Amino acid sequence: MNIAILGGTGREGAGLARRWALAGHSIIIGSRDRERAKAKAAELREITRKMPIMGESNAEAAKLGTVVVLALPAPGLATTLPEVSAACRDKVVISTVVALSFGGPRLYTPPPAGSSAEEAQALLPGAKVVAAFHHIAAHELAETDQPIDCDLLLCGAPMRLWVSSVRSFSCLSTTASGSLVAAMNTRLTSS
Ligand SMILES: NC(=O)c1ccc[n+]([C@@H]2O[C@H](COP(=O)([O-])OP(=O)(O)OC[C@H]3O[C@@H](n4cnc5c(N)ncnc54)[C@H](OP(=O)(O)O)[C@@H]3O)[C@@H](O)[C@H]2O)c1
Repeated sequence: MNIAILGGTGREGAGLARRWALAGHSIIIGSRDRERAKAKAAELREITRKMPIMGESNAEAAKLGTVVVLALPAPGLATTLPEVSAACRDKVVISTVVALSFGGPRLYTPPPAGSSAEEAQALLPGAKVVAAFHHIAAHELAETDQPIDCDLLLCGAPMRLWVSSVRSFSCLSTTASGSLVAAMNTRLTSS
């Protein structure tokens, strides 16, 4: 499967990229800066011993992905998603986004839409948004020689597809948590 990761230059997206590439998927790292995406892809190819990982702009990555993953900070949704909306039409889009702010104590700021996944769904009306990975830390994803020993909560309609895709990690059990509205409750596990 071609998996595009918008914001894949960051720690969470890069960790997911490593795990999925090692499980046999083709990865497109997306960035606001195509050169930065290419550099991150080259770094990840080196780490994963030449797995198929390429870098592109977020817009191009969204076009190339069969599935699109959002690994952006919450404020980046409103600026990034309008330009990829057409490319995401009829695709599964998985949101890892947690509206946490840093600097001093980590603060969860509930988005007006209820959750970041619901905000993403509103910005991508033609896509099928699923919320997942909120409580899987980037450093755990990066330790690819270690299994991740916890449940993975998934919210959103096309769960069946994602349960099978997520299982390609060979390291997680999955718990389907209900409709996308339930994404609001996953903050309890992630903040
Ligand atoms: N880190 C974790 O352990 C963890 C765990 C669970 C969930 N999450 C969630 O996963 C998401 C990504 O986390 P992260 O730690 O990887 O974040 P990050 O490093 O702060 O950001 C990821 C990438 O997003 C892009 N970006 C930054 N600010 C942006 C903006 N204003 N607009 C558009 N793009 C922007 C940057 O890529 P370019 O500059 O290359 O465009 C950056 O490399 C967050 O929503 C976070 O809550 C993180």
